[in-house]
Amino acid sequence: VARTRSDSETIDFGRELGARLPAGAVVFLIGNLGAGKTTLAKGIVEGVGAASRDEVSSPTFTLIHEYGDPVRVYHVDLYRLDSEREVAALGLDELFDSGSLVLIEWGERFPGLLREGRVEVRLRRLENEEREIVVTGLDG
Ligand SMILES: Nc1ncnc2c1ncn2[C@@H]1O[C@H](COP(=O)(O)OP(=O)(O)OP(=O)(O)O)[C@@H](O)[C@H]1O
Ligand SMILES: [Mg+2]
Repeated sequence: VARTRSDSETIDFGRELGARLPAGAVVFLIGNLGAGKTTLAKGIVEGVGAASRDEVSSPTFTLIHEYGDPVRVYHVDLYRLDSEREVAALGLDELFDSGSLVLIEWGERFPGLLREGRVEVRLRRLENEEREIVVTGLDG
């Protein structure tokens, strides 16, 4: 369990987490609106060396963003989708099997996406700028 006190601390936490993620990990970023999922994704993407934090924006409307080189990362946001059928149409299985890192916001709403071996990161807003971050599914 970690606590951060600003978005830059959450990005730093994401950078460290990114460095510890196995290649091809599927990571569910879980938390309320504004909890800091996208902010954490900025750090993870930067931490694995796929892009810098400023290049990472929310895929709420585009659904999937892809960052690359040398490590590829897909950042998915399913907030706007309502049914398993819509999610299935996105063909995320292909991403899961690609060996790339996949980060998903709002994915826990769709049981069809849950995979053995997934990593879950739960973010919770405490007071003001404080966030509690709990990671499960990673050893060590
Ligand atoms: N400790 C913190 N960690 C992360 N974000 C913080 C923190 N303190 C304040 N913030 C602010 O909270 C907001 C988090 O927004 P962000 O887009 O990351 O949330 P989200 O969980 O992805 O929301 P959504 O469900 O709408 O996609 C940002 O405006 C960020 O600056
Ligand atoms: Mg977001």
